[in-house]
Amino acid sequence: MEPLTDLKEIIRYGIQAPSGHNTQPWLYSVNENEINLYPDFSRALPVVDSDNHALYISLGCAAENIVIAATYYGLQANVSTNEVEDSKPFIVISLATDDSIKKDPLFAYIEDRQSTRNEYSDYKVPEADLSVLSNSFELEGIELIVLTGESEINKLEPLIIEGSNNQFQNREFVEELVDWFRFSKAEAEKKGDGLWIKSMGLPNMNSFIGNIVMKYFVTANSEAKRWKKLIDATAGFALFTVDQNEISQWVTLGRAFQRFGLTATKLNISHAHVNMPCEELEVRQKLVEKFNLGSKHPLLLIRFGYSDKMPYSFRRDLDQVICNTK
Ligand SMILES: Cc1cc2nc3c(=O)[nH]c(=O)nc-3n(C[C@H](O)[C@H](O)[C@H](O)COP(=O)(O)O)c2cc1C
Repeated sequence: MEPLTDLKEIIRYGIQAPSGHNTQPWLYSVNENEINLYPDFSRALPVVDSDNHALYISLGCAAENIVIAATYYGLQANVSTNEVEDSKPFIVISLATDDSIKKDPLFAYIEDRQSTRNEYSDYKVPEADLSVLSNSFELEGIELIVLTGESEINKLEPLIIEGSNNQFQNREFVEELVDWFRFSKAEAEKKGDGLWIKSMGLPNMNSFIGNIVMKYFVTANSEAKRWKKLIDATAGFALFTVDQNEISQWVTLGRAFQRFGLTATKLNISHAHVNMPCEELEVRQKLVEKFNLGSKHPLLLIRFGYSDKMPYSFRRDLDQVICNTK
Protein backbone atom coordinates (compact mmCIF):
# COMPACT_ATOMS: atom_id res chain seq x y z
CA MET A 1 0.00 0.00 0.00
CA GLU A 2 1.20 3.49 -0.89
CA PRO A 3 -0.17 5.69 1.90
CA LEU A 4 0.27 8.98 0.02
CA THR A 5 -1.41 7.60 -3.07
CA ASP A 6 -4.31 6.47 -0.93
CA LEU A 7 -4.65 9.88 0.69
CA LYS A 8 -4.73 11.52 -2.74
CA GLU A 9 -7.46 9.06 -3.73
CA ILE A 10 -9.41 10.12 -0.65
CA ILE A 11 -9.11 13.80 -1.67
CA ARG A 12 -11.03 12.90 -4.84
CA TYR A 13 -14.08 12.61 -2.59
CA GLY A 14 -13.39 15.98 -0.96
CA ILE A 15 -13.52 17.58 -4.39
CA GLN A 16 -17.06 16.26 -4.95
CA ALA A 17 -18.37 18.45 -2.12
CA PRO A 18 -20.74 21.36 -2.73
CA SER A 19 -19.47 24.94 -2.49
CA GLY A 20 -21.04 28.39 -2.83
CA HIS A 21 -21.34 29.22 -6.59
CA ASN A 22 -19.25 26.02 -7.11
CA THR A 23 -16.12 28.09 -6.51
CA GLN A 24 -14.37 25.08 -4.90
CA PRO A 25 -12.44 27.44 -2.59
CA TRP A 26 -10.01 24.76 -1.41
CA LEU A 27 -6.41 23.64 -1.68
CA TYR A 28 -5.16 20.37 -0.26
CA SER A 29 -1.81 19.14 0.93
CA VAL A 30 -0.94 15.59 1.90
CA ASN A 31 1.52 14.32 4.49
CA GLU A 32 2.14 10.80 5.67
CA ASN A 33 -0.92 10.65 7.90
CA GLU A 34 -2.62 13.99 7.37
CA ILE A 35 -4.65 15.86 4.81
CA ASN A 36 -4.59 19.64 5.20
CA LEU A 37 -7.42 21.62 3.71
CA TYR A 38 -6.66 25.32 3.09
CA PRO A 39 -9.04 28.13 2.16
CA ASP A 40 -8.34 29.54 -1.32
CA PHE A 41 -9.33 33.18 -0.91
CA SER A 42 -8.69 33.86 -4.59
CA ARG A 43 -12.03 32.05 -4.99
CA ALA A 44 -13.90 33.97 -2.28
CA LEU A 45 -17.24 35.68 -2.91
CA PRO A 46 -16.80 39.11 -1.29
CA VAL A 47 -20.32 40.36 -2.07
CA VAL A 48 -22.56 37.46 -1.09
CA ASP A 49 -20.16 36.04 1.51
CA SER A 50 -18.28 39.04 2.91
CA ASP A 51 -17.23 37.25 6.15
CA ASN A 52 -16.31 33.99 4.31
CA HIS A 53 -18.71 31.89 6.37
CA ALA A 54 -19.98 30.09 3.23
CA LEU A 55 -16.38 29.53 2.16
CA TYR A 56 -15.57 27.74 5.43
CA ILE A 57 -18.90 25.84 5.31
CA SER A 58 -17.80 24.57 1.87
CA LEU A 59 -14.47 23.44 3.35
CA GLY A 60 -16.42 21.63 6.07
CA CYS A 61 -18.47 19.80 3.41
CA ALA A 62 -15.23 18.67 1.73
CA ALA A 63 -13.77 17.62 5.10
CA GLU A 64 -16.79 15.46 5.89
CA ASN A 65 -16.56 13.69 2.52
CA ILE A 66 -12.93 12.91 3.38
CA VAL A 67 -13.87 11.64 6.86
CA ILE A 68 -16.53 9.37 5.32
CA ALA A 69 -14.28 8.12 2.49
CA ALA A 70 -11.43 7.44 4.95
CA THR A 71 -13.56 4.79 6.66
CA TYR A 72 -13.41 2.84 3.38
CA TYR A 73 -9.63 2.85 3.60
CA GLY A 74 -9.77 1.60 7.23
CA LEU A 75 -8.79 5.03 8.53
CA GLN A 76 -10.18 6.93 11.49
CA ALA A 77 -10.19 10.68 10.85
CA ASN A 78 -9.96 13.53 13.32
CA VAL A 79 -10.84 17.04 12.10
CA SER A 80 -9.19 20.07 13.71
CA THR A 81 -9.52 23.76 12.92
CA ASN A 82 -6.91 25.02 15.38
CA GLU A 83 -4.08 25.53 12.87
CA VAL A 84 -3.32 28.88 11.28
CA GLU A 85 -1.02 29.77 8.38
CA ASP A 86 -0.42 33.39 7.26
CA SER A 87 -3.16 34.29 9.77
CA LYS A 88 -5.60 32.08 7.84
CA PRO A 89 -7.13 29.19 9.77
CA PHE A 90 -7.09 25.87 7.91
CA ILE A 91 -8.32 22.34 8.55
CA VAL A 92 -6.13 19.42 9.55
CA ILE A 93 -7.58 15.96 9.04
CA SER A 94 -5.41 13.44 10.92
CA LEU A 95 -5.81 9.86 9.79
CA ALA A 96 -4.94 6.75 11.76
CA THR A 97 -5.33 3.09 10.84
CA ASP A 98 -8.13 1.50 12.82
CA ASP A 99 -9.00 -2.14 12.13
CA SER A 100 -12.28 -1.86 13.99
CA ILE A 101 -13.59 1.13 12.04
CA LYS A 102 -17.07 0.74 10.52
CA LYS A 103 -17.48 1.78 6.87
CA ASP A 104 -19.79 4.78 6.69
CA PRO A 105 -22.71 3.86 4.38
CA LEU A 106 -23.04 7.51 3.25
CA PHE A 107 -19.90 6.88 1.17
CA ALA A 108 -22.11 5.30 -1.51
CA TYR A 109 -23.91 8.62 -2.08
CA ILE A 110 -20.98 11.04 -2.43
CA GLU A 111 -21.04 10.92 -6.22
CA ASP A 112 -24.85 10.83 -6.51
CA ARG A 113 -25.44 13.91 -4.37
CA GLN A 114 -26.24 17.14 -6.13
CA SER A 115 -27.99 20.44 -5.49
CA THR A 116 -31.25 19.88 -7.36
CA ARG A 117 -32.73 23.23 -8.27
CA ASN A 118 -35.86 22.19 -10.18
CA GLU A 119 -39.46 22.40 -8.96
CA TYR A 120 -40.36 19.59 -6.59
CA SER A 121 -43.53 17.48 -6.72
CA ASP A 122 -46.16 17.98 -4.04
CA TYR A 123 -45.46 14.63 -2.29
CA LYS A 124 -44.89 14.98 1.43
CA VAL A 125 -41.83 13.44 3.04
CA PRO A 126 -42.94 10.64 5.43
CA GLU A 127 -42.38 11.29 9.14
CA ALA A 128 -39.94 8.39 9.38
CA ASP A 129 -37.71 9.95 6.70
CA LEU A 130 -37.99 13.41 8.30
CA SER A 131 -36.70 11.83 11.48
CA VAL A 132 -33.78 10.17 9.63
CA LEU A 133 -32.91 13.58 8.10
CA SER A 134 -33.15 15.30 11.48
CA ASN A 135 -30.75 12.75 12.94
CA SER A 136 -28.32 12.72 10.02
CA PHE A 137 -25.54 14.22 12.15
CA GLU A 138 -24.57 14.80 15.73
CA LEU A 139 -22.06 17.63 15.91
CA GLU A 140 -21.63 20.04 18.76
CA GLY A 141 -22.99 23.55 18.32
CA ILE A 142 -25.04 22.78 15.20
CA GLU A 143 -28.81 22.57 15.22
CA LEU A 144 -31.16 21.59 12.41
CA ILE A 145 -34.73 22.85 12.46
CA VAL A 146 -37.04 21.08 10.02
CA LEU A 147 -40.02 23.17 8.89
CA THR A 148 -42.81 21.35 7.09
CA GLY A 149 -46.05 22.90 8.41
CA GLU A 150 -48.02 25.31 6.23
CA SER A 151 -47.98 28.06 8.85
CA GLU A 152 -44.19 27.77 9.29
CA ILE A 153 -43.60 27.87 5.54
CA ASN A 154 -45.94 30.87 5.28
CA LYS A 155 -43.80 32.59 7.90
CA LEU A 156 -40.64 31.80 5.96
CA GLU A 157 -41.80 32.82 2.48
CA PRO A 158 -41.76 36.64 2.91
CA LEU A 159 -38.22 36.42 4.31
CA ILE A 160 -37.03 34.40 1.32
CA ILE A 161 -38.60 36.93 -1.04
CA GLU A 162 -37.13 39.87 0.91
CA GLY A 163 -33.65 38.31 0.78
CA SER A 164 -33.98 37.62 -2.93
CA ASN A 165 -35.23 41.17 -3.60
CA ASN A 166 -32.28 42.68 -1.72
CA GLN A 167 -29.84 40.59 -3.71
CA PHE A 168 -31.32 41.15 -7.15
CA GLN A 169 -31.53 44.89 -6.52
CA ASN A 170 -27.81 44.86 -5.79
CA ARG A 171 -25.82 45.16 -9.01
CA GLU A 172 -22.62 43.94 -7.33
CA PHE A 173 -24.39 40.75 -6.22
CA VAL A 174 -25.67 40.09 -9.74
CA GLU A 175 -22.25 40.76 -11.31
CA GLU A 176 -20.50 38.44 -8.88
CA LEU A 177 -23.10 35.73 -9.54
CA VAL A 178 -22.93 36.08 -13.32
CA ASP A 179 -19.12 35.93 -13.22
CA TRP A 180 -19.47 32.37 -11.96
CA PHE A 181 -22.07 31.39 -14.56
CA ARG A 182 -20.81 29.00 -17.21
CA PHE A 183 -23.02 29.41 -20.25
CA SER A 184 -21.79 26.52 -22.39
CA LYS A 185 -20.91 22.95 -21.52
CA ALA A 186 -17.51 23.46 -23.14
CA GLU A 187 -16.72 26.41 -20.84
CA ALA A 188 -18.05 24.60 -17.73
CA GLU A 189 -16.02 21.50 -18.54
CA LYS A 190 -12.85 23.43 -19.35
CA LYS A 191 -12.92 25.58 -16.21
CA GLY A 192 -14.26 22.71 -14.09
CA ASP A 193 -16.03 25.11 -11.73
CA GLY A 194 -18.87 27.61 -11.54
CA LEU A 195 -22.57 27.40 -12.19
CA TRP A 196 -23.24 25.59 -15.44
CA ILE A 197 -26.61 26.90 -16.58
CA LYS A 198 -27.90 23.39 -17.35
CA SER A 199 -27.43 22.41 -13.72
CA MET A 200 -29.29 25.59 -12.76
CA GLY A 201 -32.27 24.55 -14.89
CA LEU A 202 -31.78 27.45 -17.31
CA PRO A 203 -32.03 27.21 -21.10
CA ASN A 204 -28.95 27.11 -23.29
CA MET A 205 -27.63 30.51 -24.34
CA ASN A 206 -24.29 31.76 -25.46
CA SER A 207 -22.19 33.79 -23.12
CA PHE A 208 -22.94 37.17 -24.75
CA ILE A 209 -26.73 36.68 -24.64
CA GLY A 210 -26.49 34.99 -21.24
CA ASN A 211 -24.71 37.95 -19.69
CA ILE A 212 -27.31 40.37 -21.03
CA VAL A 213 -30.24 38.19 -19.94
CA MET A 214 -28.83 37.63 -16.45
CA LYS A 215 -27.82 41.23 -15.87
CA TYR A 216 -30.78 43.05 -17.41
CA PHE A 217 -33.78 40.73 -17.80
CA VAL A 218 -33.66 38.73 -14.58
CA THR A 219 -35.13 41.19 -12.10
CA ALA A 220 -36.05 41.13 -8.42
CA ASN A 221 -39.69 40.73 -9.54
CA SER A 222 -39.07 37.82 -11.89
CA GLU A 223 -36.96 36.10 -9.21
CA ALA A 224 -39.66 36.63 -6.55
CA LYS A 225 -42.23 35.05 -8.86
CA ARG A 226 -39.94 32.10 -9.55
CA TRP A 227 -39.30 31.59 -5.83
CA LYS A 228 -42.99 31.68 -4.90
CA LYS A 229 -43.60 28.80 -7.30
CA LEU A 230 -40.65 26.81 -5.95
CA ILE A 231 -41.69 27.41 -2.33
CA ASP A 232 -45.27 26.25 -3.03
CA ALA A 233 -43.88 22.96 -4.34
CA THR A 234 -41.45 22.43 -1.47
CA ALA A 235 -42.13 19.58 0.98
CA GLY A 236 -40.05 21.19 3.70
CA PHE A 237 -37.15 23.40 4.70
CA ALA A 238 -34.09 22.61 6.77
CA LEU A 239 -32.70 25.56 8.70
CA PHE A 240 -29.18 25.09 10.08
CA THR A 241 -27.94 27.22 12.96
CA VAL A 242 -24.61 27.60 14.75
CA ASP A 243 -24.16 28.59 18.41
CA GLN A 244 -21.14 30.77 17.67
CA ASN A 245 -20.66 32.70 14.45
CA GLU A 246 -17.01 31.71 13.99
CA ILE A 247 -14.77 29.68 11.70
CA SER A 248 -14.64 26.42 13.66
CA GLN A 249 -18.44 26.26 13.78
CA TRP A 250 -18.75 27.18 10.10
CA VAL A 251 -16.58 24.17 9.30
CA THR A 252 -18.62 21.95 11.63
CA LEU A 253 -21.80 23.24 10.00
CA GLY A 254 -20.40 22.23 6.61
CA ARG A 255 -19.77 18.73 7.97
CA ALA A 256 -23.35 18.56 9.30
CA PHE A 257 -24.86 19.86 6.07
CA GLN A 258 -22.86 17.35 4.03
CA ARG A 259 -24.22 14.47 6.13
CA PHE A 260 -27.71 15.90 5.66
CA GLY A 261 -27.26 16.13 1.86
CA LEU A 262 -25.91 12.59 1.58
CA THR A 263 -28.69 11.24 3.80
CA ALA A 264 -31.31 13.02 1.66
CA THR A 265 -29.69 11.51 -1.44
CA LYS A 266 -29.89 8.05 0.14
CA LEU A 267 -33.62 8.63 0.76
CA ASN A 268 -34.14 9.86 -2.85
CA ILE A 269 -35.01 13.31 -1.53
CA SER A 270 -33.83 16.30 -3.59
CA HIS A 271 -32.46 19.39 -1.88
CA ALA A 272 -31.20 22.85 -2.83
CA HIS A 273 -30.17 26.09 -1.16
CA VAL A 274 -32.51 28.98 -0.39
CA ASN A 275 -29.89 30.93 1.50
CA MET A 276 -30.96 34.48 0.78
CA PRO A 277 -32.56 35.14 4.21
CA CYS A 278 -29.36 33.90 5.89
CA GLU A 279 -27.03 35.87 3.60
CA GLU A 280 -28.75 39.24 3.98
CA LEU A 281 -27.94 40.34 7.53
CA GLU A 282 -31.05 42.37 8.28
CA VAL A 283 -33.23 39.52 6.97
CA ARG A 284 -31.19 37.03 9.04
CA GLN A 285 -32.11 39.06 12.13
CA LYS A 286 -35.81 38.84 11.22
CA LEU A 287 -35.40 35.07 10.80
CA VAL A 288 -33.98 34.89 14.33
CA GLU A 289 -36.90 36.87 15.71
CA LYS A 290 -39.70 35.13 13.78
CA PHE A 291 -38.46 31.64 14.64
CA ASN A 292 -37.35 32.46 18.22
CA LEU A 293 -33.78 31.38 17.59
CA GLY A 294 -32.45 33.37 20.56
CA SER A 295 -28.65 33.62 20.36
CA LYS A 296 -28.32 31.09 17.50
CA HIS A 297 -27.17 32.16 14.03
CA PRO A 298 -29.12 30.73 11.07
CA LEU A 299 -26.58 30.24 8.26
CA LEU A 300 -28.08 27.75 5.82
CA LEU A 301 -31.61 27.32 4.56
CA ILE A 302 -32.31 24.28 2.39
CA ARG A 303 -35.52 23.26 0.63
CA PHE A 304 -36.22 19.58 0.09
CA GLY A 305 -38.76 17.41 -1.71
CA TYR A 306 -39.09 14.95 -4.57
CA SER A 307 -37.95 15.59 -8.14
CA ASP A 308 -35.93 14.17 -11.00
CA LYS A 309 -32.18 14.68 -10.98
CA MET A 310 -30.61 17.49 -12.99
CA PRO A 311 -27.35 17.60 -14.97
CA TYR A 312 -24.36 17.43 -12.62
CA SER A 313 -21.98 20.36 -12.10
CA PHE A 314 -18.26 20.08 -12.91
CA ARG A 315 -15.16 19.93 -10.75
CA ARG A 316 -11.52 20.86 -11.24
CA ASP A 317 -8.98 18.03 -11.40
CA LEU A 318 -7.05 16.73 -8.44
CA ASP A 319 -3.76 18.20 -9.67
CA GLN A 320 -5.32 21.69 -9.73
CA VAL A 321 -6.15 21.58 -6.03
CA ILE A 322 -3.20 19.76 -4.50
CA CYS A 323 -0.63 22.30 -3.39
CA ASN A 324 2.26 19.97 -2.47
CA THR A 325 3.97 17.38 -4.56
CA LYS A 326 5.17 15.06 -1.82
C1 LIG B 1 -22.14 27.16 1.71
C2 LIG B 1 -22.91 26.94 0.44
C3 LIG B 1 -23.78 27.93 0.00
C4 LIG B 1 -24.52 27.74 -1.16
N1 LIG B 1 -25.43 28.70 -1.54
C5 LIG B 1 -26.22 28.48 -2.60
C6 LIG B 1 -27.25 29.41 -2.94
O1 LIG B 1 -27.44 30.43 -2.27
N2 LIG B 1 -28.03 29.14 -4.02
C7 LIG B 1 -27.87 27.99 -4.75
O2 LIG B 1 -28.61 27.78 -5.72
N3 LIG B 1 -26.90 27.11 -4.45
C8 LIG B 1 -26.10 27.31 -3.38
N4 LIG B 1 -25.15 26.38 -3.04
C9 LIG B 1 -25.00 25.17 -3.86
C10 LIG B 1 -23.81 25.30 -4.80
O3 LIG B 1 -24.08 26.24 -5.82
C11 LIG B 1 -23.50 23.92 -5.36
O4 LIG B 1 -23.02 23.13 -4.31
C12 LIG B 1 -22.44 23.97 -6.45
O5 LIG B 1 -22.94 24.65 -7.57
C13 LIG B 1 -22.02 22.56 -6.88
O6 LIG B 1 -23.11 21.83 -7.30
P1 LIG B 1 -23.56 20.47 -6.60
O7 LIG B 1 -23.95 20.77 -5.19
O8 LIG B 1 -24.73 20.01 -7.42
O9 LIG B 1 -22.39 19.52 -6.66
C14 LIG B 1 -24.38 26.55 -1.91
C15 LIG B 1 -23.48 25.57 -1.46
C16 LIG B 1 -22.76 25.76 -0.29
C17 LIG B 1 -21.83 24.67 0.19
